[in-house]
Amino acid sequence: MLDLTAMRATLAESYDLAPSMALAEDMRDIHQTMDRVVPLPDFARYAPYIREINRLKREKNAVILAHNYMTPEIYHGVADVVGDSLQLAIEATKVEAQTIVQCGVHFMAETSKILNPSKTVLIPDMQAGCSLAESITAEGIAEMRAKYPGAPVVSYVNTTAEVKAASDICCTSSNAAQIVAALPEDMIIMTPDQYLAQNVAAQVPQKKVVWWAGSCIVHEQYTAKDINDFRALHPDTRIIAHPECPPDVVNASDFSGSTSGIISYVEREKPKEAMLVTECSMASNIADALPEVDFVGPCNMCPYMKKITLEKILWSLHTGTAEVIVDPAIAEKARVAVERMIELSQAIAK
Ligand code: 13P
Ligand code: SF4
Repeated sequence: MLDLTAMRATLAESYDLAPSMALAEDMRDIHQTMDRVVPLPDFARYAPYIREINRLKREKNAVILAHNYMTPEIYHGVADVVGDSLQLAIEATKVEAQTIVQCGVHFMAETSKILNPSKTVLIPDMQAGCSLAESITAEGIAEMRAKYPGAPVVSYVNTTAEVKAASDICCTSSNAAQIVAALPEDMIIMTPDQYLAQNVAAQVPQKKVVWWAGSCIVHEQYTAKDINDFRALHPDTRIIAHPECPPDVVNASDFSGSTSGIISYVEREKPKEAMLVTECSMASNIADALPEVDFVGPCNMCPYMKKITLEKILWSLHTGTAEVIVDPAIAEKARVAVERMIELSQAIAK
């Protein structure tokens, strides 16, 4: 566990991290990407960290891969690549720099390590987990195989390397339905997200989909009643849900897609008002690029994603910690499942 007090003391000795309006003014080009959601005095607190992180990235030959749920100061201030889980996995295979700093949760860092094993992969907080990844182990996969003999296991990338290694193929929220549809078997085991599996089952009625009972603590909180009540008061708001939400929530929404699918939808449709039924940073990160859209309604915070902060990223680059290690034998098997997913989803996209 990180000792935040010691970390802050060391960082303060090594860098000038005092809030600075003058520096914030100098970095206006970066601030303009988050002007609607980060007031300039707040940006003045972030600016010294952004300056040092960007300098250290060059000095240490590192790149930052950041998930769409990172806060705007990370997403716009220091990330080299942003995206959903599938995009980040594909980008990880292309990294040439020696170090990847994964700004996201632990399974994403493991996926980068699995796909590009010669790189050093750092995560700024080892405690950045995921309720889905924690819901199943390799024994759970064996249990499902014993219950449904012959059915292939499609595991969400939100799983540990050990679970990926025990699976036939992975999927993400952006390709799950296509992957399930493309497999030759009639019965498919999907783990560990019961709601993603149920949403896929509705899209691919020709398959019998069975699932593990995991769920995302962020998306399971939404109810169809929330959506219908909101719609009754705001009939013109476009409601857009992540497929980790329960099926009745997805059915009550206008569109459902991966985090990048949601961004593309809003960019394309430019609704006057949009409610993103997902993690809070999503709306914040696209608010400035889409000034014509008002983002309204409730959102939920992912406590794991929010463990990643600018000061922990700076610490990670300063110390070269915390390195994500995956047992090579497990990584080799997990790579087969992830690469099968990437190959199949690229073939389907053609
Ligand atoms: P995406 O693949 O849509 O980015 O989803 C990852 C995730 O953890 C959403 O909760
Ligand atoms: Fe996991 Fe849900 Fe957080 Fe995504 S939002 S990382 S699925 S807990």
